[in-house]
Amino acid sequence: MPATPLYCACPRRLDAARLLSQRFALPLLEQRPQQGYWLELGEERLELLTTGKHGAVYAEFVEGAAKHRREQGGGRGQPVAKAIGLKGAKELPYVVDATAGLGRDSFVLAGLGCRVTLVERSPVAAALLADALERAAGHPDTADIAARMQLVHASSIAWLAALSEAERPDVVFVDPMFPDTDKKSAAAKKDMQAFQQVIGDDQDSAALLQAAIAAAKNRVVVKRPRLGAAIEGVKPSAVLDGKSTRFDLYVIKALHPVQG
Ligand SMILES: C[S@@+](CC[C@H](N)C(=O)[O-])C[C@H]1O[C@@H](n2cnc3c(N)ncnc32)[C@H](O)[C@@H]1O
Repeated sequence: MPATPLYCACPRRLDAARLLSQRFALPLLEQRPQQGYWLELGEERLELLTTGKHGAVYAEFVEGAAKHRREQGGGRGQPVAKAIGLKGAKELPYVVDATAGLGRDSFVLAGLGCRVTLVERSPVAAALLADALERAAGHPDTADIAARMQLVHASSIAWLAALSEAERPDVVFVDPMFPDTDKKSAAAKKDMQAFQQVIGDDQDSAALLQAAIAAAKNRVVVKRPRLGAAIEGVKPSAVLDGKSTRFDLYVIKALHPVQG
């Protein structure tokens, strides 16, 4: 993937643009591009833009769908909460979201009280996340949730493998971009197609699943479209079906039963 450039449309925020450019290795432009995709830092937020027909793509934890989810989300009874093992849990698990994307799943989990590390390898997605987290940290409705979310810009396969025993998460959450048709129809919204164009499909999900299973203390949860194929390799130990989404669970105790 060629590097996606960054343009600052708000002179007042040029220093913030320089910091983003350095942190995520995004080439900083002096003029708005005439074609292709670019990140644009405006008065309010960072957005992924294109000259084509797609709308702006950005991560958002304060307004819109995130606000709705915060207020009407369904608490510990919702499928993702059950999938990570929250229902009936005495202690909230520490979760690593190994495919953070635009952070929607991480935000739900942090909203339920979990500490979440968001690992994202794409500089574009990571920059959008950093911007949304900063905005969420500065808003009274979301500051406490944002405080439980930590962003790491890295490939999860290497990052998980490098964790010490004390750093191992209870749960690793995985939601890769599959190169199959079901995900494309799920991404039918034009703006999400833009995101997929820039980031590309994830071709190494099997290796990520292996790394996740090796790192997780309790379980790995893989999010899939309801009828999508499971990640190749290890068979899930349980499956949780939702309306449009399925969660494949890899329960560590079931995968590695203690002998004796
Ligand atoms: C389908 S999106 C995840 C959407 C996310 N669950 C959400 O709620 O917004 C997949 C994301 O995982 C990232 N990704 C895939 N494999 C990864 C890896 N091995 N390490 C880090 N990020 C990865 C991709 O760059 C992409 O942004």
